[in-house]
Amino acid sequence: MQIYINGTFYPKEEAKVSVFDHGYLYGDGIYETLRAYDGYVFHLDEHIERLEHSAKLMEMALPLDDDGISQAIHDTLSRNGLKDAYIRVSVSRGTGEIGLDPELCPVPTFVIIAKPFVDYPTELYEKGIKIAIVEIRRNHPETLNPAIKSTNFLNNIFAKMEAKRAGAFEGIMLNHGHFVAEGTISNIFMVKNGELATPPLIAGILEGVTRGLVIELAEKLEIKVYEEMFTEAALKDADEVFITNTTMEIMPVREVDDKSIGAPGRLTKILAEAYRHEVQRYLKARKRAD
Ligand code: PDD
Repeated sequence: MQIYINGTFYPKEEAKVSVFDHGYLYGDGIYETLRAYDGYVFHLDEHIERLEHSAKLMEMALPLDDDGISQAIHDTLSRNGLKDAYIRVSVSRGTGEIGLDPELCPVPTFVIIAKPFVDYPTELYEKGIKIAIVEIRRNHPETLNPAIKSTNFLNNIFAKMEAKRAGAFEGIMLNHGHFVAEGTISNIFMVKNGELATPPLIAGILEGVTRGLVIELAEKLEIKVYEEMFTEAALKDADEVFITNTTMEIMPVREVDDKSIGAPGRLTKILAEAYRHEVQRYLKARKRAD
């Protein structure tokens, strides 16, 4: 496995960053998780755009422009001979003296890890997962804004630990106003009476690329979608629930805490199918453009 660090490839064992890296010292960094299907990185532009948005929100100048990032990702895939891949792009503030001041770090540390994509067990899609509403709240947007895809992930790690203790696959955090926000690595949707609802960005969540696509697909299918706040009680009363992210795509939920939900529900199946079609359509369009 060859890892990209600031323009150079290193074997996994030699791929190291400094203990003075502010990503390590302070969690001062951002990242993206992407997925390649058959050699094509799905919604690459959207992920690059979000990386740039995260960088902007933390006042960090990225060392590469759009084309440079895209090239580095593709180089990492080909170096590793990968077609179906999990890709992790991490950019930390860089190496510098101990101290909080970002100016101590002249050069960001830009890392790309790509490894073969391992599918989630099909059983999870067939039967659905259990999710747990956790005690810890999602960061308030005026503290560490969840819109930044930050490597400062302790909020989500605490939620993950709670979820694990509850025997759940994913932990769902409420926001400061006690409304449902998002999972530790996913966005959440629910279906009630044939209509779809998902928390709005102002609930304090990451603007998931998959979330955006699911909203778009639902609209095309003439399924009503509401971006609106809802409570834990409403979630438990839903007809269907699913979570989304780049690697899982659409994952049906069969249990919210101890409340059973029929999974996978009708709309969940329709949307999951539409998502798979969209991936195929995207691949075809890219192949034609090559
Ligand atoms: N996580 N919310 C949070 C907090 C996330 O970390 C993620 C993604 C999402 C979904 O975003 P997208 O649809 O763009 O993948 C929502 C990635 C998969 C991760 O942490 O590896």
